[in-house]
Amino acid sequence: LPLVARIHGAALDADAASWLVDQGASELAAEDVDLLGLFDQPLQLALHQEYWPAGRTLVAAELLDWGGVWRPLAVGVEVAGIRIRQQAGGEADDLNLVVGDVFGSAHHPTTAMCLEWVAFGPADAPLLDVGTGTGVLALLALRLGATRARGTDLDPAARECAAQNAAANGLADRFEVQSGLGDASWPRIVANLSSGTVVELAYDLAARLASGGSLAVSGFSVEIAPEVERALLRAGLRRVGGDDRLGWVRLDFAAPW
Ligand SMILES: C[S@@+](CC[C@H](N)C(=O)[O-])C[C@H]1O[C@@H](n2cnc3c(N)ncnc32)[C@H](O)[C@@H]1O
Repeated sequence: LPLVARIHGAALDADAASWLVDQGASELAAEDVDLLGLFDQPLQLALHQEYWPAGRTLVAAELLDWGGVWRPLAVGVEVAGIRIRQQAGGEADDLNLVVGDVFGSAHHPTTAMCLEWVAFGPADAPLLDVGTGTGVLALLALRLGATRARGTDLDPAARECAAQNAAANGLADRFEVQSGLGDASWPRIVANLSSGTVVELAYDLAARLASGGSLAVSGFSVEIAPEVERALLRAGLRRVGGDDRLGWVRLDFAAPW
């Protein structure tokens, strides 16, 4: 099977292109904002290299020719030097996630954009991860040095999955998972949810943002993003940035207090 390495946001990055060629890519292609390298060899080597453009995720995937459609079978994601895999037995610095039916494998564009926001830091700042799923965002923050993180999820299966992933990766002592937001305030909050849920929670999220804190929300399309932005502005937050990928959006806000 041919294999592909996808570097998000690197379509115009000449260094990333040379790196893929150095790794043995037989062909390069751009897809949307992403740079793809096609490989004839197994790609595990790509997951063990030191080149990761700052703030970008790389997805290494097998490609299966499925009735003329290339269907990716992902084997790993890397962000800020941390490999995120769905398998046990990786290296100590990896994040090895059991995913099952829970959302948060790291491959979805919204998760990837939130991972990049988390990796942007500040690395030691505690993080509230609303709708934690597998715990992937909180666990990356902890792996990168956050002093503590809380994941929340309405779904008991997700809470159990996130707790197990924290324990399996040796991060349980700095991680807690619960169904509700709690009363504490946080310097960083990330919420990868549906647009309706973000709008509904806009005031609750703002109320839990500490002075000078930052919030990233994702989980909705470019078309609906203005409505989500309005709700968070109404809650008193200031828009400071964002990203979009394959029609999905991340919006970044800061507490003006
Ligand atoms: C799109 S997944 C995000 C998972 C993971 N954080 C990621 O970025 O890949 C959204 C998660 O939020 C949970 N969820 C939905 N509504 C919620 C709410 N009001 N409060 C907490 N969690 C919620 C869902 O059960 C699901 O696990």
